Amino acid sequence: MISKSIQSCREAIYRDLQQCRSGTFKLFADIDYDTFCRQAHPDFSPVGWHLGHIAYTEDLWLLQRCAGLEPVFPQYHQLFAADILPKKQRVFLPALPEVELYLDAVRKKVLDYLEVAPIDEQERLWRFIIQHESQHCETVAFVLQMQRKKEEGRRKKEEGILMPNAQCPMPNAQCPITDSAIEIPAGEFYMGSDAAEALDNERSRHLCYLEAYSIDRYPVTCRQYRDFMESGGYQNHDWWSAGGWKWLQGEAVSQPLYWSENQAFNNHPVCGVSWYEAEAYCNFIGKRLPSEAEWEKAASWEATNQTYRIYPWGEEPPNGRLCNHGNNIANTSPVDAFPKGASAIGCWDMLGNVWEWTASTFDAYPGFESYPYRGYSQVYFDGEHRVLKGGSWATFPQALRSSFRNWYYPGVRQIIAGFRCAK
Ligand code: AVJ
Ligand code: FE
Repeated sequence: MISKSIQSCREAIYRDLQQCRSGTFKLFADIDYDTFCRQAHPDFSPVGWHLGHIAYTEDLWLLQRCAGLEPVFPQYHQLFAADILPKKQRVFLPALPEVELYLDAVRKKVLDYLEVAPIDEQERLWRFIIQHESQHCETVAFVLQMQRKKEEGRRKKEEGILMPNAQCPMPNAQCPITDSAIEIPAGEFYMGSDAAEALDNERSRHLCYLEAYSIDRYPVTCRQYRDFMESGGYQNHDWWSAGGWKWLQGEAVSQPLYWSENQAFNNHPVCGVSWYEAEAYCNFIGKRLPSEAEWEKAASWEATNQTYRIYPWGEEPPNGRLCNHGNNIANTSPVDAFPKGASAIGCWDMLGNVWEWTASTFDAYPGFESYPYRGYSQVYFDGEHRVLKGGSWATFPQALRSSFRNWYYPGVRQIIAGFRCAK
């Protein structure tokens, strides 16, 4: 019996490794060498670097640390390790076919090792590696979006990312989205996860008591955000915190990074805002950002039978009818396009479409232990990073669940992020 469950675990890991990799190659399918090597923004590495770093990390943890093998291509250590070269020196890259050769060489040995590895002891590490690749692919997706946006700006044309995708699902209702709020009574719920795929920062699962609060059914839409912009929101000091106003003076922006004037986006979530812009909008309408606990309770808690759902809709793994993820649409979609994806309490669009900023700083849960290295989560428990929940249109299915925590500095707006309001 035990050997049968080990075998099915091996098969599940094999399937997820290969499914994730095909998503990775799809992202790079028609990329030219210039796009591969170019640094779109000083805070982010070129997309080609991410691809090599994916192979490097898989080799390091599975082949070197577990299987005891020598590095597949030791000459890539300096270039693709996580913290050797500064980002601006990561632009001198081998061509795409050579990096693919590296990925394939590592993967071939990894699949051989998977046949014999003590998977019952190592499942967590294999799950980490799959999610590590998933997360780097999300960065690749938004860096590519940033590059396309720059080019379109240069050509002064509204196309590509500035138009809804042709395969974009239609909104459920033709009427404008209103900010209907859902009341959640005071009480405890289970926060976090101890499942094999849970990353160190999701552990351990713990009871959390929250006072009564309300949270919006949908993320804030472009139409709603336009009110803020047209009311001079970016010029009015009143809506901004001291830190937010300081950030705004430094950035001198007056619209979200991924903003479009096209009215076809009215019911799409606003996207490309920093935490400070989200905070200012909340002040403008007399609401606030939810804490990460408030967000997670609204997404995962089933009050009637006191149970926890992995996904807002239940236990079924993500698919294209439940939410906008995995580059299926490769753009935002209307916030009411996925009725089947609603949570038990009635919040829509919690997973996929855009990440949602929360009020919370990124911190350790009770009983936290670093895994597999301090630099994955622990070094970011600095009181500065803010937690994002829910995943985006670019998030791979293996990194999509209600307990997943993402984190960035509050001034970052290049990620695929919006927000919803609470009170
Ligand atoms: C959790 C998405 C912020 O990409 O910097 C990848 C994930 N950590 N390799 C990042 C990560 C190490 C991380 N984020
Ligand atoms: Fe990494």
